[in-house]
Amino acid sequence: MDARICLLPGDGIGPEILAQGVAALKAAGQRFHHEFTFVEALIGGAAVDASGEPLPAETVTRCLESNAVYFGAVGGPKWDSLPRAQRPERGILGIRKALGLFANLRPAMLFPELAGACLLRADIAARGLDLIVVRELTGDVYFGEPRGRELRDGLRTGFDTMLYNEEEVRRIARVAFETARGRRGKVCSVEKSNVLETSRLWREVVEETHREYPDIELSHLYVDNTAMQLVRDPSQFDVILTGNLFGDILSDEAAVITGSLGMLPSASLGAGGPGLFEPIHGSAPDIAGEDKANPLATILSGAMLLRLGLRLPEEADCIEAAVRRTLADGFRTADIMEPGKTLVGCAAMGAAVCERIHRIRG
Ligand code: IPM
Ligand code: MG
Repeated sequence: MDARICLLPGDGIGPEILAQGVAALKAAGQRFHHEFTFVEALIGGAAVDASGEPLPAETVTRCLESNAVYFGAVGGPKWDSLPRAQRPERGILGIRKALGLFANLRPAMLFPELAGACLLRADIAARGLDLIVVRELTGDVYFGEPRGRELRDGLRTGFDTMLYNEEEVRRIARVAFETARGRRGKVCSVEKSNVLETSRLWREVVEETHREYPDIELSHLYVDNTAMQLVRDPSQFDVILTGNLFGDILSDEAAVITGSLGMLPSASLGAGGPGLFEPIHGSAPDIAGEDKANPLATILSGAMLLRLGLRLPEEADCIEAAVRRTLADGFRTADIMEPGKTLVGCAAMGAAVCERIHRIRG
């Protein structure tokens, strides 16, 4: 197939990890005879430096003209003191909104090869950890109006609005139920309906939508309890369905306990336009440009791009198998290094994966 992929390298380690992700896509393209065309656009701090804004209009246009968007990372100390509208984070928030990417899929699992890195007690880890957070991505307190700052009774006061309408809840609930169908058939909806009005609506709509999916088991948990259950016994979770803010927090927690933050990919999907694929970790400015970053989360995001963005499951499987083989062969970047393994940099790790994409048995 012919496909056009828009690259948004961004800041910090973004460009170096994305370069390895692109190499892996090219390797898969060669092996399976696809013609991938890459175009590049500015986002985040890099865009602020070049044009004064974190999401230039041209970037949105280039993304919309592509079949998928492949994103590195944004942000860094250099831009931390800018006003909110110019912060690099506005770039990623803006592109999510502009492309209508309301569904964020964040898998968290233990790679058997990296079992030693897991932060959980061995008996808890032994029960397994293989879950996916389905996070709503274009609503909630992230985008709700009104928001702002003003003087109230002479005191500086800040406010944001947590807000969901039923259609926003219904469409993300459907994504969660559909996702569960391809997995272990369980959805746990996470909210704070003992306190929040938004959450009461959320729960009501999730229950209504569940009637379309009688084959799926649905449970509900408050977000505070979920945070606890994730470390107490993550094996109970299959699909976690939640809103934007709770999903932001829980997906970091789910990811870090695996011990492999540098390994986990994510996909953001909309109602039909191009999806956006990115590692869940950030721009790591402290190691930027030093060839130390782990490119595997980005390479695995490339596999999600192929599977979910371009509907090429066999090609995605090949990349994932090549990553597993690279780990099994002992290659490690610094973040996942263990005694007795081979320490490599970002580029060498990418090259090791590409070599295996070419020759691994399908
Ligand atoms: C994430 C990040 C973003 C978010 C930031 C960078 C705006 O934390 O993708 O989880 O809060 O959504
Ligand atoms: Mg986050």
